[in-house]
Amino acid sequence: MSDEPRKPADDADKIKLRRAAADVEHAAKLAGDIPPRPAPDQPVTPKTRRKGRHGVALQETPSTGHEWDGITEYDNPMPRWWLWTFYATIIWSVGYVLAYPAIPLVTQATQGLLQTDTRQEVAAEIDRFEAANAPVQAALVAAPLEEIPSDPQLTGYATNAGAALYRNWCAQCHGAGAAGGTGYPNLLDDSWLWGGSLADIHQTLQHGIRDPLDPETRYSEMPRFGTDGLLDQAQIVQVTDHVLSLSGLPHNAERAAEGAAVFADNCAACHMEDGSGNRDQGAPALNDQVWLYGSDRDTLTRIISEGPYGVMPAWSSRLSEAEIRALAVYVHGLGGGE
Ligand code: HEC
Ligand code: HEC
Repeated sequence: MSDEPRKPADDADKIKLRRAAADVEHAAKLAGDIPPRPAPDQPVTPKTRRKGRHGVALQETPSTGHEWDGITEYDNPMPRWWLWTFYATIIWSVGYVLAYPAIPLVTQATQGLLQTDTRQEVAAEIDRFEAANAPVQAALVAAPLEEIPSDPQLTGYATNAGAALYRNWCAQCHGAGAAGGTGYPNLLDDSWLWGGSLADIHQTLQHGIRDPLDPETRYSEMPRFGTDGLLDQAQIVQVTDHVLSLSGLPHNAERAAEGAAVFADNCAACHMEDGSGNRDQGAPALNDQVWLYGSDRDTLTRIISEGPYGVMPAWSSRLSEAEIRALAVYVHGLGGGE
C-alpha cells in the first residue's frame, strides 16, 4: 500500500477503463464469442473456457446449477487442509468417547477406558491439601491464642486461610472488604461492640451474638422503649435529641437537656452516662462517629422505639477450631485488632 493519498482522478480513470472493458466483453458476447449462460439447474461443464480481460484463458469454475435472482453458486471443493482437520476431529472424538466419561446415563456417565473420575480427582486433591495442612492446623489449635501473633509461620497460614474462609462465610453479611453495612458491623475500624482482642473475636466467632442455638452466645437486649411503652413519645423525642448531642450532631438543645435525664435513667446502665458504651453488654458507643444503624433522626427514633436485635451466628457448629482461629487471626489483623 502506498502512503500517498488516493487521488480521485485515479479512481475516475479506473472506472472508465473498467467500463470500456465491460463494453468490449458485452460486444463479444453479442457476437457469440462467449457461450451463453447455461439454463438454470444445468451444471456447467468444468472445461468451459473463455477469454479473460487481458486475453488470458480462464477456467470457468463449475456451478452447482443453483441460481437465485441471477446469482449462481460456485461448486468449489473445500480447502484440503480444512477437510483433513475436519476428519481429524471426527477421529479424535471417537477416541475421546471411548477413553473418557462421555455419554450421560441415568445415574452417571459412561466410565471410559481410562476410568477417570473428576469427582474423585477433586476429592483426592482436597485430601492432599488437608493432609499437607494438618500439621500447621494442629499447631494453630495447640498454641495458646495470645501467642499466635508472635509466631510468623502460624500467623501467615492463619491469615491466608482466614481470608479464604472469610470470603466463604462472612462476606455476605460483613461485606467483601469487611467494611460492614447497616446492622452489620465494620470489622476494619477500632470501634468494637463486644471487644477487639484476639480472645474477644475468637469468643464472638465461636458462640455468635444472640444466636438462639448456642447456650453460651453473647447476649444482651436493649429494651423496646416505644413498642413496650417504657417511654412516651415526648420522652423518645427528647432522648433522641440527647443522643444526637452526644456526638455533636445537629440537635434541639432544649429537648436534649430534658433528654439527658431520660438518658441517665434509662440508657446509661448500658451506654454509660457519657455515651461511651459498654462492651460487656455489646452496647455501642453513642458519642463517636461510628453508627451501626444510622445517625439520622428517624433511624435513631426507630431504634430507640423498637429496639435493635442484631444476630450473628455461632460458628463452632459449622467450622473447626482451626478454622475459627484462622478467622480470628485474620479479622484481628484487618486493622482494628487490639
Ligand atoms: C448472617 C449475617 C452474619 C454473618 C454470616 C456473619 N456475621 Fe459477624 N456479625 C453479624 C451481626 C449482625 C453482628 C453484630 C451483632 C450485634 O449487633 O451485636 C456481627 C458481629 C460480628 C463481630 C463482632 C464485632 C464487634 O464489634 O464486636 C465479629 C468479630 C464478626 N461479626 C465476625 C464475623 C466473621 C469472622 C464471620 C464469618 C465467619 C461473620 N462475622 C459472619 C452478622 C453476621
Ligand atoms: C440493656 C442494655 C441497653 C439499654 C438499657 C439501652 N441500650 Fe441502646 N443498645 C444496646 C445494645 C446491646 C445495642 C446494640 C444492639 C445491636 O447491635 O443489635 C444498642 C444500640 C443502640 C443504638 C444504635 C447505635 C448505633 O450505632 O446504631 C442506639 C441509638 C441506642 N442503643 C440508644 C439507646 C437509648 C437512647 C437508650 C435509652 C433510652 C438505650 N439505648 C438503652 C443496649 C442497651
